[in-house]
Amino acid sequence: SEQTFIAIKPDGVQRGLVGPIITRFEQRGYKLVAMKLVSPSKEHLEKHYEDLADKPFYKGLVTYMLSGPICAMVWEGREAVKTGRTLLGATNPMASAPGTIRGDYAIDVGRNVCHGSDAVESAKKEIDLWFKKEELMSYKPANFDWIYEKP
Ligand code: GTP
Ligand code: MG
Repeated sequence: SEQTFIAIKPDGVQRGLVGPIITRFEQRGYKLVAMKLVSPSKEHLEKHYEDLADKPFYKGLVTYMLSGPICAMVWEGREAVKTGRTLLGATNPMASAPGTIRGDYAIDVGRNVCHGSDAVESAKKEIDLWFKKEELMSYKPANFDWIYEKP
């Protein structure tokens, strides 16, 4: 099934939102397959955001992402990429619906608490960039048959 890369950005970690954000993915029924707290290099973040290199906010974005530890995760399940984005909410928290992570916990687009892959292809690239193969766990959660009618 599908995997997506979700990261809790430095503001989310500093604000004690690691637990609440993980809880939302767990409660929805997604499976945590990898997780670590990391302080990536500038080069790593420039690779992660290479598609945004010509945006006016790019420099500030990289500085923001360098400002503290990041909680990097891989979540797995049906349509994990698309539903992951739905759980996060719109990029700009001012436009994020209440009930979404950004809609409940953030105000500024430059402090929007979390990251989620925007497509299956970019999810693969991002998981490859942030994790080693052996860091991805393979297991069947105890509640699996209670979440999916037909796995
Ligand atoms: P991510 O899940 O973090 O990748 O967000 P996204 O896919 O919804 O947006 P995008 O990839 O276009 O932008 C990446 C990040 O750059 C956003 O999450 C914001 O933190 C930041 N960003 C995007 N647009 C703006 C902007 O207009 N101004 C500022 N200051 N930051 C922005
Ligand atoms: Mg993005």
